[in-house]
Amino acid sequence: MNQLSQSSRSSERSPQTGVLFVCLGNICRSPTAEGIFQHLVNIHQLSESIFVDSAGTGSWHIGRPPDARSQRVALQRGYDISHLRARQVSAGDFDDFDYILALDAANLANLEKIRPQHYAGHLGLLLPFAPHLRRREVPDPYGGDEKDFQLVVDLIQEAAEGLLNHIKGRL
Ligand code: 4NP
Repeated sequence: MNQLSQSSRSSERSPQTGVLFVCLGNICRSPTAEGIFQHLVNIHQLSESIFVDSAGTGSWHIGRPPDARSQRVALQRGYDISHLRARQVSAGDFDDFDYILALDAANLANLEKIRPQHYAGHLGLLLPFAPHLRRREVPDPYGGDEKDFQLVVDLIQEAAEGLLNHIKGRL
């Protein structure tokens, strides 16, 4: 998609930029990131230019909605993620997404293993888009409590703003 967007930027309708968030189960962190980032894209009226998705490197939760704790904490902050369903990341995602952003280093390492050599997009971590946080990873909240799920939203909200500003500068 990157190559496409380079070559057809001057045409009347530029192609979309794809953003994929990836965690382990795709039931806690990455659906939260998808919901928060999609909300930002919507309020900036950029949904025709940016499409958003999430996936997990693991397969255990395929087809399931986000964890009830993630849904509740997200809804408290104004993000309804109840419609999302877990899926597993695949090599084909590298054809479809310009940004593939892992929530932690272990998931990034697993994505690096399936990254096709020709991939010209951005494969990396999400939190560096909020450098002031001085954190690189969103901790896995699955075995944790309420405050761990709140932290997930806090960190992702900051990084989502930085990511949108970064992409807006390149549309
Ligand atoms: P997520 O959290 O990667 O943020 O969706 C997890 C969900 C499930 C498991 C681990 C992490 N699990 O081991 O089943």
